[in-house]
Amino acid sequence: MNDYENKVVIITGAGSGMGRAMVGEFVSRGARVAAMDINLERAKETVDGLSDPSMAFALQVDVSDQDSAKRGVDAVISRWGRVDLLCNNAGILDGHATAHEVSLAEWNRVLAVNLTGPFLMARAVIPQMLSQGKGAIINTSSTSGFSAAGGGSAYTASKHGVIGLTRQLTFEYGARGIRVNSICPGATATPLALPEHNAASPDMDLAISKVPARRWCQPGEIAKLAAFLGSDDADYVHGSDYVMDGGWLAAARDPF
Ligand SMILES: NC(=O)c1ccc[n+]([C@@H]2O[C@H](COP(=O)([O-])OP(=O)(O)OC[C@H]3O[C@@H](n4cnc5c(N)ncnc54)[C@H](O)[C@@H]3O)[C@@H](O)[C@H]2O)c1
Repeated sequence: MNDYENKVVIITGAGSGMGRAMVGEFVSRGARVAAMDINLERAKETVDGLSDPSMAFALQVDVSDQDSAKRGVDAVISRWGRVDLLCNNAGILDGHATAHEVSLAEWNRVLAVNLTGPFLMARAVIPQMLSQGKGAIINTSSTSGFSAAGGGSAYTASKHGVIGLTRQLTFEYGARGIRVNSICPGATATPLALPEHNAASPDMDLAISKVPARRWCQPGEIAKLAAFLGSDDADYVHGSDYVMDGGWLAAARDPF
């Protein structure tokens, strides 16, 4: 269970939802965790809620800003001397705006956070992982990395891009000890997707009623998948996209 003893893990979007669940999961397995979020107060709440808050610290990082991403990673390295795993989890939805309605500013904002963000964070940690000869990166994509309708055009394009980035990083760095994989959640019970937090949500009750599992995924289930993918048990897993969607994609129909 304590397979993260002496390991250092960075989690972005750690102030809510899956990122918050990941912080708890990795700390429970012995990791030291940097909980990064654009919203520092929320990241601090995540750390304060841990059974042992001394195992984690909160940092304000905007993943879409190159300097902010680099400053955050540098702070982790100067504190703990290494980075074993980066979980590129932060992401935003696009209001399900259709292609002719989404503003260019909104398109750029969604791409900046969801796709440029993981790229900038990866660039910031890769030199350290290369010097260690080992490291892992988990990029959070989505069922929207494979199919349409889970968001608008900006969200769907960004999540397809995350899968492409995962594959290219595997090609470039796999032989040098860095494993890169993606997690592709389906409808997960977080503020991003739950209708009570998100006015733009389509009819999620209808969607869930069509998903073979007939229920929401819980953020803790995604966190456990991340803990496996980042661990040495997954040492031969490179460049894979791990779908956890209750059968959404397998059922191959638009749940909306
Ligand atoms: N919830 C779902 O149904 C679902 C499904 C598939 C994929 N995803 C993906 O899972 C990931 C986690 O989403 P969630 O559902 O936990 O969402 P959430 O809204 O609960 O949490 C996202 C967190 O990211 C932070 N964030 C936003 N912009 C940021 C930035 N520029 N820099 C740093 N942090 C930033 C937010 O402050 C928030 O704390 C996202 O990449 C999302 O696209 C979610």
